[in-house]
Order: sequence, then C-alpha cells, then structure tokens
Amino acid sequence: MPTLTLAEPLSTRGRIGRAAHVPAPVTITVAHNKGGVAKTTSTFVLGKHLSRSLRVEMVDLDRTSYLTEVVAQLAPRGDFILTPRLWLRADEPRPADVILIDSEPAREQYAREALLRADYVLIPVPPEPLCIKGLELMLEVVEAVRTDPQGGNPFLQVLGVLPTLYDQRWPNHRAWIEEIKAIGAERRMRVFPPIPRRQSYTTLSMAGQDYAPVADAVRALVRDARARAHHG
Ligand SMILES: Nc1ncnc2c1ncn2[C@@H]1O[C@H](COP(=O)(O)OP(=O)(O)O)[C@@H](O)[C@H]1O
Ligand SMILES: [Mg+2]
Repeated sequence: MPTLTLAEPLSTRGRIGRAAHVPAPVTITVAHNKGGVAKTTSTFVLGKHLSRSLRVEMVDLDRTSYLTEVVAQLAPRGDFILTPRLWLRADEPRPADVILIDSEPAREQYAREALLRADYVLIPVPPEPLCIKGLELMLEVVEAVRTDPQGGNPFLQVLGVLPTLYDQRWPNHRAWIEEIKAIGAERRMRVFPPIPRRQSYTTLSMAGQDYAPVADAVRALVRDARARAHHG
C-alpha cells in the first residue's frame, strides 16, 4: 500500500513553499461508512473522466487496497501511473490539479483521517434504507470533523451526495432517490443525478459520462482555485 503522507499540512496549503500563482490541488475524499456503495468505483471513474483535462492524483486510504490493485493491474508499465494525467500516489505526491482520496468504510478514526485531508467530501449513497441511514451518520461524522476545535478540519465542505447503483425500473429505488433528494434539500446539499447500475462498470467506457455532472462541479472548483491563486 502506498505511503500516506500529505503534501503539506492543511493550514499551510497555498501559502508556504508554493509560488503564489500555483494553486493548491482541490482535494476530494469519497466517503461513506458503509462498504459496497461505490466509493472505489466513483474514485476511479471520476478520476478517469477528470483526467481528460486535469492532472488527477488518486490516493488509496482503504487498507483493503482495492483501488491500488485496480490501478496496478491497469497500469501499462506495472507501476501506479495510468496516463501522464492520471496516477495513484505511490510514494511522494506529484503536482496535480485534483486529488481524489478513496476511503474505507469506517465511522471512527480512519474515516476521520481521510476527511482531515480533504477540502470536500463526496458521499456516494445507493437508494437503500441502510445506506440512507448511513448517509445521516456520515453527515454527523463530517460535522464532528468540521467542528472539532482540536485537530478538526473547519474547511471541510460537502461537495454533494451521489446516488449510486440506481435502477430506475425499481419503484423502491425511485422512492429512495426522492428521500435522498429531500435530505439534500433539508441540509442544503447538492444531490447529483443518480449513477445507473450497469454491467461491467469499471471497464465500461460510457461510465465516465454518468459522472459528468460531478466532474463539471470539480472542474468549477479547480477554476475557482486557479482564479484565487492568480488574484491572491
Ligand atoms: N454503476 C454501477 N453499476 C454496476 N455495478 C457497480 C456500479 N458501481 C459500482 N459497482 C459495483 O459495486 C460493487 C461495490 O463497488 P465499490 O466501488 O467497490 O464500493 P466501495 O468502495 O464503496 O466498497 C463492486 O462490485 C462494483 O463493481
Ligand atoms: Mg472501496
């Protein structure tokens, strides 16, 4: 498993050791306390889609290392570099526009760890009761990290909730999507269009299109970071 060093402490990002016009990467953790909700899939497919126009570094913070295995298998030279604009952090961080952190299903310390390193959290949620319960628990963890006066991360924001593994043929699924939207409206969080359940997802070339709305939101954040670095 790759070493999990941070590029630099959050509090110094963009200020020390970085030319004024070079923006810090936008760091997004993909997190949910349940397993099997498409965290790793979302990290990979979103990363691939974003790497069309941005430099994307993926980080595997899940000790089961599934993302690491996927990348190692697909990397043409057997390293962790998929293309010049898409790689998994293997040792030291490399200059990137976006860092996507895949996290493990956990409520406690390790989930916190991944949230401490992030500017934003993307929460994948399949339209099922347990996962929606999990979403509420996840939001409590986010709030706890944000408001922890000692060693928390007050900069953490929710990028959005991403309904995953959605099958529109199932009335139950349609009803639970409405429930997720209601939670989003109540908490003033963005709910992205659902990602359909499809066959052979990771290798599917069309999968990237499903993630286009999330990718657009991330690109807007990168543009903002660039504009701030340029003017600040
Ligand atoms: N859109 C999708 N359609 C079909 N299968 C999917 C989709 N997204 C994820 N999967 C499958 O669901 C399972 C769990 O996904 P994974 O990304 O490993 O979840 P997590 O990282 O949250 O544990 C995997 O077998 C994955 O291939
Ligand atoms: Mg995973």
